[in-house]
Amino acid sequence: MFAKRYHWRHFFGGLALLLLAIQLASGLVLTMFYAPHLNEAYASVQRMYNELAAVAWVRDSHRWAALVLAVAIVLHLVRSLLRKDFLNRDRQTYWLTGSLLLLPLLGFLVTGMILPWEWRAYWFVSMIPNYVGEIPLVGPWLAAFLLDIFTMNRAFVTHVLILPAITLVLIDIHALLRIKNRGGGLSLYLVERGVLALPFLLVIGILAWALPMPSQDPAMIPMPLDGEGIPMPEWFVLIFYVPRLYFHGWGSTLVGFALPLALFLVLTLLPYVLKPRSRAMRQALGGDTYGKRIAAMPWLASLRSALGAGRLAKALGALGVTAAALALFVPFYAVSRVSPTMGCNSCHNLSAGRRMGVPPETFKDRVVNPNLSDYTFMVEHWFYPQVVW
Ligand code: HEC
Repeated sequence: MFAKRYHWRHFFGGLALLLLAIQLASGLVLTMFYAPHLNEAYASVQRMYNELAAVAWVRDSHRWAALVLAVAIVLHLVRSLLRKDFLNRDRQTYWLTGSLLLLPLLGFLVTGMILPWEWRAYWFVSMIPNYVGEIPLVGPWLAAFLLDIFTMNRAFVTHVLILPAITLVLIDIHALLRIKNRGGGLSLYLVERGVLALPFLLVIGILAWALPMPSQDPAMIPMPLDGEGIPMPEWFVLIFYVPRLYFHGWGSTLVGFALPLALFLVLTLLPYVLKPRSRAMRQALGGDTYGKRIAAMPWLASLRSALGAGRLAKALGALGVTAAALALFVPFYAVSRVSPTMGCNSCHNLSAGRRMGVPPETFKDRVVNPNLSDYTFMVEHWFYPQVVW
C-alpha cells in the first residue's frame, strides 16, 4: 500500500534521513550519561560498559548507525550522480544543499571520535593540526588556532548543538520541506522508511551487540590488532590520512587534502558549470534522448521489449549504482582494512602504567610530547601499532 507513494530512487536518501533521526534519538540518550571533561569523559563511557549494558548498546548502535549512514550517503550521492540530477534546474537547490551536508556530517564524525577521550581521541585531536598544518600559507596558523581553541566542552557543544543545527537547516531545504508537504507529513514518512529499512536497523542492532567497542579496560583488554578488517565510521576520516602511508611530504598533502577538496568543489559546482535545464526546456529541446539511445542499440532495444521499458531502465540503473559503489568501496576497503580500530586499549590502558593509561594532560604541548609532531609516525602507529611505536 504505502510503497506505492514511495520512490525507490530515493531509497538511500530516505535511509540516511531515518538514520539521522536515529542518531538524534540515541545521541540524546548518550548525552545523559556522558561527561564532557578531559578527566571524566572516558570514565563515563567505561561506566556504561561496566554498569549500564543497555546504554552501552545504545552507544554502539550510535557508532554502527554512523557507519551505515555514511555508506547510505555515498550511495545516495552515487545514484544522484548517475541520474545526472545536477543537470536538472528544478533540483539545483537540492544538489547544493546535499553537497553542503557532507561538511557537517564529516564534522559529526570528527567530533564524535574525540568525545570519549581515550587514546584514539587523543590521536585525532593531535592529527587535526598535523593535517591542516600542511595546507599552504594558512596551514601553520590554522593548526595552532585549532589546537588552541580545543576544549572538551567545545567539541561536545559542536557535536550536540552546532552541527545538528546546521544539519537541520540544510536537511529542511534538502528534503524535509518536500516531505512535510506530503500527506501524513514527516512522522508517517519516518515510520514508512523505518519499515522499509527494518533489515538495516536489525543489522545495526545486532552488530552493536556482537561487536561492541572495547571499553572495559584494564579489567578486559582487547588484542592489539582487534578491529582489523571490520569497517568502522572512523574509516571515513582516516581515509584522509591513508596517503601518508604511501607518500611523504607534499605527495600526501596532494592526495589527502588537495584531491578531496577539488572533488568536493567540482561536485558542489557541477550544476553551475554544466548549465542545467528545467524539465520544460528539456522537453522542448528534444524529448526522449534515452529512448533514442536505446533504439540505436538493437540488443538493448530487444532486451527492453522483452523486459518492459521501465524494468530495463531500473535494471540498468541498479547495475550502474552497484558498479560505481563497488569502484568506490573496494579500494576504500582495501586501504582502510588494516586499521586495528578496536585494539588501541590493548597497550594504552592503566595496567601498563599511567603514562600509557591516560592521554597526558600536556596533550597540546609538542615539546613534551614530540611524537605528536611526527606525522608519519602517528599514521603508521595507527595502522601498524604492533610494528611502529
Ligand atoms: C603494541 C602496543 C600499542 C598499541 C596496540 C597501540 N599503541 Fe600507541 N603507543 C604505544 C607506545 C609504546 C607508544 C610510545 C609511548 C612513548 O613514546 O613513551 C605509543 C604512542 C602513541 C601515541 C603518541 C603520543 C604519546 O603520548 O606518546 C599516540 C597518539 C598513540 N600511541 C595512539 C594509539 C592509537 C590511536 C592506537 C590504536 C590504533 C594505538 N596507539 C595502539 C603502544 C601501542
